[in-house]
Amino acid sequence: MNADPAVMEHFLRPLSREESDRMAERVEASIESRGFGLWAVEVKGSAPFIGFVGLSVPNFEAHFTPAVEVGWRLAAEHWGLGYATEAARAALAFGFGTLGLPRVVSFTNVANARSRRVMERLGMRREAADDFDHPSIPEGHHLRRMVLYRLDAP
Ligand SMILES: CC(C)(COP(=O)(O)OP(=O)(O)OC[C@H]1O[C@@H](n2cnc3c(N)ncnc32)[C@H](O)[C@@H]1OP(=O)(O)O)[C@@H](O)C(=O)NCCC(=O)NCCS
Repeated sequence: MNADPAVMEHFLRPLSREESDRMAERVEASIESRGFGLWAVEVKGSAPFIGFVGLSVPNFEAHFTPAVEVGWRLAAEHWGLGYATEAARAALAFGFGTLGLPRVVSFTNVANARSRRVMERLGMRREAADDFDHPSIPEGHHLRRMVLYRLDAP
């Protein structure tokens, strides 16, 4: 999944096996230390791993941090079936219910229409004034401009 250029279109580059394994280790460590993270997504009875969906804490400073983010990445053959939205709803229920968070955010680059549609299906709201430049993406890069969506606890 992390090596697929289609999946990684909105990131700086696809990941090598080593980078992907390091990411999985960071995800596991986050779940262990915080009690939440980017959970593995399984399609019961057919696919033991189709990607990850869950809650994470952005590791950079911006006008909306500190914050908890809901995010997703699925292998391309599992797109278009509603799995990201279904899993994200479960992640939000955990965030608002079990963790008692007052608000959850999500962000992506302006052109990532599929991801933005997930945010909109979840009822998240974007204000243009909240758009920001991602500090880890070089100045002038087409992926740098991000849209921010927010959802307050029900
Ligand atoms: C972003 C991403 C997770 C979205 O996946 P997705 O499958 O399009 O999103 P969903 O799971 O919400 O599926 C919704 C789609 O399934 C369709 N669908 C089909 N059957 C469905 C069902 N039973 N229930 C709900 N939706 C269904 C919907 O119509 C919708 O299609 P549309 O957006 O073309 O109208 C996926 O494209 C991805 O992993 N991208 C690469 C990684 C990435 O960019 N991550 C975000 C970084 S911020």
